[in-house]
Amino acid sequence: MQPIGPVNALYPTPTTLVGALVNGKPNFITIAHIGIMTLNHISLGIHKSHYTNAGIKENKVFSVCLPSEDLIVETDYCGIMTGKKTDKAVIFDIFYGDLEKAPMIRECPVCMECRLERIVDFTEHDVFVGDVVQTHVQPEVLKEGKIDIGKVKPLLFDMASKGYWSLGPRVGNAWGEGKKLKRKLQ
Ligand SMILES: Cc1cc2nc3c(=O)[nH]c(=O)nc-3n(C[C@H](O)[C@H](O)[C@H](O)COP(=O)(O)O)c2cc1C
Repeated sequence: MQPIGPVNALYPTPTTLVGALVNGKPNFITIAHIGIMTLNHISLGIHKSHYTNAGIKENKVFSVCLPSEDLIVETDYCGIMTGKKTDKAVIFDIFYGDLEKAPMIRECPVCMECRLERIVDFTEHDVFVGDVVQTHVQPEVLKEGKIDIGKVKPLLFDMASKGYWSLGPRVGNAWGEGKKLKRKLQ
């Protein structure tokens, strides 16, 4: 093994489009630094210079939408352009749900509405932790009532290659494959 310095090697992450009302208008920001804190809590690491932060702080709600591969251009656009200068919401068909102030994107197969739970104040980033209160899906991505990730075709982000990647095939059963070794070692 060769040390390569303190490189965060947890990529890929799903590339998301995070929606918030900023100054009363919908804005979407591309966020790849997203984490699962608990089954229902999502974290977003958003640089303090971005336009979106003020809207999340003001309304205390936001959305997290999962674009599929076919939204690669629109997703990248929302990560290049800032709401300070450009109305990014015009490129999407927007809808609202239970929280009323968390704009979501109809073109995305999955959108989650989140209530802001807390902000972790890093020097350069706000880490917003949200509680998922409702999830909206395109019915086509469901299989027996659950989200089929193969049908979602999430856009995966990798920092090392500064690229978008596809999800590969399912390769095994969680909480299942290890039993083979358990049996062998018993
Ligand atoms: C693929 C991709 C992933 C990104 N992930 C993040 C991220 O996790 N956190 C962040 O602060 N900015 C991230 N950005 C940059 C913001 O999306 C970008 O600066 C955006 O223009 C800010 O929008 P706003 O000023 O309208 O809020 C990412 C950009 C791209 C293209």
